[in-house]
Amino acid sequence: MENNVSNNTGTMKAVRIHEFGGPAALRYEDAPLPVLKTGELLVRVHAVGINPPDWYLREGYKSLPPEWRPSIPMPVIPGTDLSGIVEAVAPDVTDFSIGDEVFSMVRFPSFGDSAAYAEYVAAPAQDFAHKPAGIDHIQAAAAPMAALTAWQFLIELGHDVQNPLQAERHHPVPLNGKRILVNGAAGGVGHFAVQLARWKGAHVIAVASGKHEAFLRALGADEFIDYTKQAPEDVARDLDLVIDTLGGPTTGRFLRTLKRGGALFPVFLGFSDGEEAAKRGITVSMTQVRSNGPQLATIGQLLADGTIRVAIDSTFPLADAQKAHERAAHGHIQGKIVLTVDK
Ligand SMILES: NC(=O)c1ccc[n+]([C@@H]2O[C@H](COP(=O)([O-])OP(=O)(O)OC[C@H]3O[C@@H](n4cnc5c(N)ncnc54)[C@H](OP(=O)(O)O)[C@@H]3O)[C@@H](O)[C@H]2O)c1
Repeated sequence: MENNVSNNTGTMKAVRIHEFGGPAALRYEDAPLPVLKTGELLVRVHAVGINPPDWYLREGYKSLPPEWRPSIPMPVIPGTDLSGIVEAVAPDVTDFSIGDEVFSMVRFPSFGDSAAYAEYVAAPAQDFAHKPAGIDHIQAAAAPMAALTAWQFLIELGHDVQNPLQAERHHPVPLNGKRILVNGAAGGVGHFAVQLARWKGAHVIAVASGKHEAFLRALGADEFIDYTKQAPEDVARDLDLVIDTLGGPTTGRFLRTLKRGGALFPVFLGFSDGEEAAKRGITVSMTQVRSNGPQLATIGQLLADGTIRVAIDSTFPLADAQKAHERAAHGHIQGKIVLTVDK
């Protein structure tokens, strides 16, 4: 299948990794244009949202046990989230046309073939949705992974792929009228979790460092806990649900904040207090976000009508992806970091 791109040099600018490492491993350079395959769109990228899996890949998945680390062919282009304009459409694709504005989390989960840090991306049409009217490419690129993660944890799983780390399928729980705590509330996943839980009628307690209080109250948080002043597990009680976007080995501290029959959703793996959870009658469940164009279209409607919004922490040109990763490593992110692509 021929690429119908205006650039006929056969190359594009992209950020590639040749060897795993710190932010300096991200090289802005020429790379081959992607080849459009059956079922795919070729998109000219206007903005790229950055996410933790981008640095997990950059670092060679060093936090995974060695036997779990995937083998990544080098050089590799990182990144999953993008917004742009359709440049070419495979003949079997009917839902999109050349010139459409689209956004996506492409090919996730996958290891090394998502490739969003680039001027052009070719990816399955089913991973895309039309960009909501009224938000720009920066906002649209910021949303996909963070919003889909909050959606698939809280609203609708949207797939049947078994999580290898737990026996039961992940089930969202009812939110209307429930008391819900969101830990890491100011970050990418957290700020969508706060808004989606409020939209569904929950009473939301947001946990973040103090500088995010006004931001989170403006997004609809009913209560705010500054974790730098008070440990949330010491002050929150009688909760129906905790979504802990930090997760990891410390997530079990939230068990004592939950009612019997409540649920703890750690967004990052590492939970190991199964016995205490069973004793307290609490369900602990997680999932891994998966690409889903139709869910993204629904999220897009909520963004378009102002029911939810996406916050931009900072933007950097694609050529400065290293600086964007340095900003991320500094922490305390409010919303999302986005790379802009020159036109
Ligand atoms: N399961 C999945 O499929 C899935 C999908 C997406 C992401 N994830 C994982 O979810 C995690 C969060 O991702 P993200 O994109 O939302 O990250 P992020 O944008 O970096 O947000 C993290 C937030 O946590 C806050 N924070 C840091 N330490 C804290 C603490 N001790 N208590 C409360 N808040 C704290 C930070 O700001 P302050 O410290 O200033 O409050 C920041 O706003 C990552 O580990 C990521 O890998 C998993």
